[in-house]
Amino acid sequence: MSENTTPTTQTERKKRVFSGIQPTGVFTLGNYIGAIRNWDKLQADYDCLYSIVNLHAITVRQDPQALKKNTLSSYALILACGIDPQKSIAFIQSHVPTHSQLAWVLNCYTQFGELSRMTQFKDKSAKYADNINAGLFTYPSLMAADILLYGTDLVPVGADQKQHLELARDIANRFNGIYGNVFTVPDGIIPKSNEGARVMSLQDPTKKMSKSDTNTKSFVSILDEPNTIIKKFKGAVTDSEASVHYGEGKDGINNLMGIYSALTSKTFDEIEDEFRGKGYGDFKVAVGEVVCEELKPIQDRYKELMTDKAYLEKCYREGAEKAEAISHRIMNKVNKKVGFID
Ligand code: TRP
Repeated sequence: MSENTTPTTQTERKKRVFSGIQPTGVFTLGNYIGAIRNWDKLQADYDCLYSIVNLHAITVRQDPQALKKNTLSSYALILACGIDPQKSIAFIQSHVPTHSQLAWVLNCYTQFGELSRMTQFKDKSAKYADNINAGLFTYPSLMAADILLYGTDLVPVGADQKQHLELARDIANRFNGIYGNVFTVPDGIIPKSNEGARVMSLQDPTKKMSKSDTNTKSFVSILDEPNTIIKKFKGAVTDSEASVHYGEGKDGINNLMGIYSALTSKTFDEIEDEFRGKGYGDFKVAVGEVVCEELKPIQDRYKELMTDKAYLEKCYREGAEKAEAISHRIMNKVNKKVGFID
């Protein structure tokens, strides 16, 4: 997969970006650094569509009231993180029925073997062994539909979604091979490891930071209070050395350096210089402070947005309308190609 982030010149059509995030209710610092922060930056150069993927969410059992609430707060949170509904199309997946419609068609061009090999499916079926439903299995063809429905050129995703993106490309190529050029074959924008691609757990830095971790000290939520954030960083698991430097076996410090670097744009060398002669304690507090500073304006904006439900509704209704209008071009083409009567 090539990494193609060259912006187009003004005279060309801007390239299209699509990404989605599940309405988990809590977004972690990992989601922010690894994904949403980059969504914001991409808006300057691309036509972006961003979706709260609630259809994907029901592949694991959800409480309906909680799902509703989390979908709205996730939507507010991406706006708070800088997604501008005037510039980009920000919408809720279930509001645009063409996603499910195309997903069905793509299911018929996706092989059992391919879906069986998806590591996320294997992980989730182990985790939710009493509910290995067909939707969990075909999750990747719905994700392919999300992307292919808009002629998407670029898909910013975390490293853990790379396999799904590869599958979307395979499905697109397969379909195009049978019916001619219907789908754009998308490229990924996958952050390099020194850009904080993977923020690790503060309690077990060999594991990815996850909001589903039972130990809440292991992750920072975007909405955590400043003193909670500082406390979590102070309690971050490190090693028994004392000097701040990057190295093998120093997963905890490497992770903190990754976070600090992602938010300050300082290189690891510069960070080592900055903390030379200082202990882990100082460094941990410094990382916590940088995180608080980054999150403060987001938290303020989020609170403001959540008091204005009418505005949020206006934004997601308009977003869905715009998304659906664009999606019909490819959906109609697909229907025609496979032989559905107009
Ligand atoms: N599966 C993605 C995740 O869990 C979310 C997602 C759904 C997505 N559809 C997408 C990401 C389309 C990028 C493009 O992170």
